[in-house]
Amino acid sequence: MQVIKVKNYEELSKVAAEIIANLVKEKPDCTLGLATGSSPIGLYQNLIKKYEAGEISFKNVKTYNLDEYCQLPKSHPESYYSFMHRNLFYHIDIKEENVHIPNSEGNDLQKLCDEYNDLLHKATIDLQLLGIGANGHIGFNEPGTSFEQETFVVKLTEKTRQDNKRFFNSIDEVPTYAMTMGIKNIMQAKKVLLVASGANKQEAIKKLLSGEVTESCPATILNRHKDAIIIVDEAALGLVK
Ligand code: F6R
Repeated sequence: MQVIKVKNYEELSKVAAEIIANLVKEKPDCTLGLATGSSPIGLYQNLIKKYEAGEISFKNVKTYNLDEYCQLPKSHPESYYSFMHRNLFYHIDIKEENVHIPNSEGNDLQKLCDEYNDLLHKATIDLQLLGIGANGHIGFNEPGTSFEQETFVVKLTEKTRQDNKRFFNSIDEVPTYAMTMGIKNIMQAKKVLLVASGANKQEAIKKLLSGEVTESCPATILNRHKDAIIIVDEAALGLVK
């Protein structure tokens, strides 16, 4: 696991965008695994700038997102479908048919999970981008999830719902369930890039960097990935009070 220490969110967003842009330049038809949440917004902005400057094109890039809320229509502003389009896809030249986000709209969620999992089996993700939950989750693989888990419907922990409340009007509006790639899917990516910023990530980062691998902190599995990069800022490292 390679650890890149940066000063703050701004630097983290630049360094992470550089890594992704270099991959897109080297392999214009690469496959990216993408994440939502606050952590990747700055790096997506940098990627948009690079696209606008003519440095990179997403014309032949394919993407697979980690997760999606259940019980929320795609059209809801806080669905991950809306998030990805608002923060990245509408601003670059990616083809809609190359964008894959778990579809949780429908009654048979198991069937929808299986369909997404089949797509993942057929794909090879060159780089999987990850944020990290304050409780160490990656995707929505909450503490205690088996490392062998593939795409599934998860009941979100109260901690995660509270953490995500900031995007909604009240806690009652935060979905209770989500569909997520499993840890096994994530580990199949050729390269993993995890970005962590802010003091609320300190505990999870401390566990991740301790080298111990435990299902009680899902991100620690990355210690077993052969090409994982962790970009962490001073606040997440605990250097800033
Ligand atoms: C998002 C995802 C989550 C987030 C994590 C951190 O697609 O899978 O694991 O990366 O909850 O969220 P933020 O970045 O908002 O702190």
